Amino acid sequence: MSKLDPIVVAQLDALLADENNPVTVLSNASAVLNAAMPDLNWCGFYLYSARTNTLDLGPFQGQVACMHIQPGRGVVGTSYAKKRSLIVPNVHEFAGHIACDSASNSEVVVPLQVGDRVVGILDIDSPTLDRFTEEEQAILEQAATVIAKYLDAEALATVY
Ligand code: SME
Repeated sequence: MSKLDPIVVAQLDALLADENNPVTVLSNASAVLNAAMPDLNWCGFYLYSARTNTLDLGPFQGQVACMHIQPGRGVVGTSYAKKRSLIVPNVHEFAGHIACDSASNSEVVVPLQVGDRVVGILDIDSPTLDRFTEEEQAILEQAATVIAKYLDAEALATVY
């Protein structure tokens, strides 16, 4: 059963309406999702930098995290390379998992797509094994679509 109420999608849409600063959008989006889901230890974003061809740490809630991840590396880089969301029930069994916070045991990642470009990855970690359901994954995909609607890719590219 999902522990994430689908109303979070409408809440994000209402909160972010008229906002076009990507740092502002992503900061509050990470706060909303972190508050909406129990049993998390990290919730935030990695944004793709075309300058360095890396996924760079963006707004988040949680402990200090890795700052740069290469496409194809770890859970985040795999989601970026495959351009799809992914549930990892046990991160210790995921080849190449990047351990930023030793408390993490399971993880879900969802791409943020603006037009035909994946501009970043929503990354959520839990200390509980097998924490994330497919139902929550589907809700998070809808949340990512709403968040991406308020992302100005050109403004993002001035930072990342
Ligand atoms: N575990 C991720 C790295 C990011 S942290 O979880 C915040 C990965 O393997 O890509």
